[in-house]
Amino acid sequence: MLEKFERYPLTFGPTPIEKLERLGKHLGGKVEIYAGEDCNSGLAFGGNKLRKLEYIVPDAIASDADTLVTIGGVQSSHTRMVAAVAAKTGMKCLLVQEIWVPHEDAVYDRVGNILLSRIMGAEVRPVDAASTLASVTVGKKALYEVKARGGRPYAISAGASVHPNDGLGYVGFAEEVRAQEKQLGFAFDYIVVCTVTGSTYANMLVGFAEDNRQRTVIGIDASAMPEMTRAQVLSIAQHTATLVELGTEPVEDDVVLLEDYAHPRYGIPSQETKEAIRLCARLEGMITDPIYEGKSMQGMIDLVQKGFFPEGSRILYAHLGGAPAINGYGYTFRDG
Ligand SMILES: Cc1ncc(COP(=O)(O)O)c(C=O)c1O
Repeated sequence: MLEKFERYPLTFGPTPIEKLERLGKHLGGKVEIYAGEDCNSGLAFGGNKLRKLEYIVPDAIASDADTLVTIGGVQSSHTRMVAAVAAKTGMKCLLVQEIWVPHEDAVYDRVGNILLSRIMGAEVRPVDAASTLASVTVGKKALYEVKARGGRPYAISAGASVHPNDGLGYVGFAEEVRAQEKQLGFAFDYIVVCTVTGSTYANMLVGFAEDNRQRTVIGIDASAMPEMTRAQVLSIAQHTATLVELGTEPVEDDVVLLEDYAHPRYGIPSQETKEAIRLCARLEGMITDPIYEGKSMQGMIDLVQKGFFPEGSRILYAHLGGAPAINGYGYTFRDG
């Protein structure tokens, strides 16, 4: 579905799929759990945004931009990935980092993702963010500022979602998994994916709709604003379906977004999320972060324990990256 679109390669190519044998056994052994996707690039620890950015960068280059401008939370992985892409493509980078997560660590705004962005040469601008409207205003201000000093900015939205081409990367993920399934000799019954700005899930859904498996992709909300996220997932999926000429339009019932795991709020892990992070780290040596993947890991564990997946199911946990953020949660995990 993707041949006609220009792609700027930033990832390694097909990412390995690994069985989480010990986690599966620990949870009762009735389903098989696999994980894939976290080791997807050599750029600044990789992550899901790179798949999206592979199809956005050609437009940035064609527009003759010299500065990538984007926005995200203080420990946003997306902003780190944009900083890496700017470095890789020889552009400058301005990052607006919104302070909207209360935190316990004195160094929250100096470690993890934001530290890496600074090291990669991005201009990092922390701002208090009281509302979505305030975010739009600071984002626009940043663009004006780059222009005022003679630069040529290219704006990338939060999470690299809602760009006309951002959907292509995760349609590509579905194509990749289908090819891997042929080698493995079986198809996954379910795919579990963390969802915040919505496009990773939305576009996997489109990719798996190609063989009518869209409702087997389970989104785990980590935004704590599920209604907004659900609406955004559907609208992005419909846009991408048209773009890739899927031939059918995603409908509301295709969006299976579970909202029980995002509490107490975005960026703050619940007791259950922390337990899930520890369990998966201790059984598999696999690191998930308190903002995103810890919540989808918690969701998957809970769903397995509740019997949501029929016995014998094979589940693919899409690990979307994000591990550097855990450095901002040193106090939370001070005793392990
Ligand atoms: C590590 C990680 N996991 C999951 C997500 C959610 O992806 P999306 O914003 O496409 O819903 C993000 C970004 O927001 C992320 O950085």
